Amino acid sequence: MRQRIINARVTFHNSPIHVLERFAIRDVDDAYEQFRRHSGLDECVIIQTCNRVELFARTGPGGTERLKRTWASLTGLDEVAFDENLEMSEDDEALRHLLKLTSGLDSMVLGEEQILGQIKSSIAEARKTRSSGRYLNTIFDKAIRIGTRIRGSTGIGRGGVSVGSMAVRLAEENIDDMKSKRILLIGTGEVSTLVAKSLLRRGYAFDVTSRTLGRARAFCESLGGSPVRFEEVLSAFTGYDAMFVATTAPYSLVTFEKISQAVSAGRAGGSNDHSGGSNEPGGHRRGMMILDLSNPRTVDERVATLPGVKLMNLDQISEMVEKNLTAKAGKARAIEDAIKEEVGVLEASVRRLAAEPIAEHVFKKIDALREKELQKAVRVLDETDPRRIGIIDSLTREIVESIVSPPINNLRKASERGDSGVIALAGRLFDYGDDNDGAADAGAAPSAGAHAPAPNDTAPNDTAPKN
Ligand SMILES: NC(=O)c1ccc[n+]([C@@H]2O[C@H](COP(=O)([O-])OP(=O)(O)OC[C@H]3O[C@@H](n4cnc5c(N)ncnc54)[C@H](OP(=O)(O)O)[C@@H]3O)[C@@H](O)[C@H]2O)c1
Repeated sequence: MRQRIINARVTFHNSPIHVLERFAIRDVDDAYEQFRRHSGLDECVIIQTCNRVELFARTGPGGTERLKRTWASLTGLDEVAFDENLEMSEDDEALRHLLKLTSGLDSMVLGEEQILGQIKSSIAEARKTRSSGRYLNTIFDKAIRIGTRIRGSTGIGRGGVSVGSMAVRLAEENIDDMKSKRILLIGTGEVSTLVAKSLLRRGYAFDVTSRTLGRARAFCESLGGSPVRFEEVLSAFTGYDAMFVATTAPYSLVTFEKISQAVSAGRAGGSNDHSGGSNEPGGHRRGMMILDLSNPRTVDERVATLPGVKLMNLDQISEMVEKNLTAKAGKARAIEDAIKEEVGVLEASVRRLAAEPIAEHVFKKIDALREKELQKAVRVLDETDPRRIGIIDSLTREIVESIVSPPINNLRKASERGDSGVIALAGRLFDYGDDNDGAADAGAAPSAGAHAPAPNDTAPNDTAPKN
């Protein structure tokens, strides 16, 4: 029964942010359990960012339909919702897609760095819950390394282009003379950091607010800006011309009522208005621009209906990114070419894994024999000197190693070439039967909960930053 690597995804490419939100999986740990139990996935990794909800899985026939059903039940969506929004890739296409992710080619802002950190976090989480195993761990580790290399060689990420800098550019395109305006940043997380860096680089002054004033203060100490009290800001947004909102709050922080009040106060030239020169002659404010970078959104959409208020979210940033894509078209082509080459390397390492259960079985079995014979010899010789025993031990190891390694390496090479005949034959020769997990693939991957460590099945080299 052939196992496949599949990728199922809903992304900003074909689903606007408000649709994408509906596919988000709230309880990832529970989702892993459900996917294992109801979709029969041998291994699974979930990647969720504000621009995508993706699953990579290793599964047998029928896994795709079962996966959709479980995903639908986890989100409360009708399965038909998936018809319009879900994209699927298998095997080499799924691997190619993962390389596009790690190299930043599939990102809204081409070459942005955050996705790499998010993928590292996702595989670290999957590893922790043992939802991923031998196959996905190897694939992700290699894809992260390849993606990092491609970024370096093509220079795609240079110039600090990020969601934050795109948002600031979007504000600049819509607001005259930004330097004279009052700017507020709500949030002190990863995206806020990107916005703050971009504001600072361009010489704009800004206020920063966060649920804890201490956090806003610490943020401002390292990234610029002036900390302001959260409650103060939330009770009256009056005086601000531009607001960047980037929080993970699960509800509307910026409500219709508050913005409505702020706009009225501004128009009346009210005393709360500390915007200095922001008022138009005659007491009319020039308006307010709000950039909601959050997903789920944290600004009530109805504020866009208020006169003078312009609301933009990640969808508009996505449009702006089209321009960025054109500008970076040359680099994007270079990445495509690099991925074309690397996908073969990644495929080969996946195929190579098919030999690992047999290799492990053989080494384990022979080592047990070696150990037994060693102990027997030590007894017969009545040997007690640890140095001498050590010499005999090394000798036997070397002999075993030099006899077993060549055929096993040949087996791995055959596996890399996808020669399933040799694998099946090796299984029979080395007495690797059905009662072993992960029968030489052809067979199944070890189930996520019970996989034996393979040479590549190590912890990721890089520390995973937070998502
Ligand atoms: N990371 C990306 O690449 C990326 C890209 C585009 C958009 N986004 C979206 O941008 C938003 C922020 O992402 P992030 O990566 O910056 O997240 P993050 O690093 O986890 O930071 C989250 C921020 O939200 C604040 N927050 C959480 N719950 C809150 C609540 N109930 N009320 C007020 N503030 C609250 C946190 O404040 P405390 O410090 O007080 O907890 C923190 O400042 C998310 O909606 C995300 O989907 C992320």
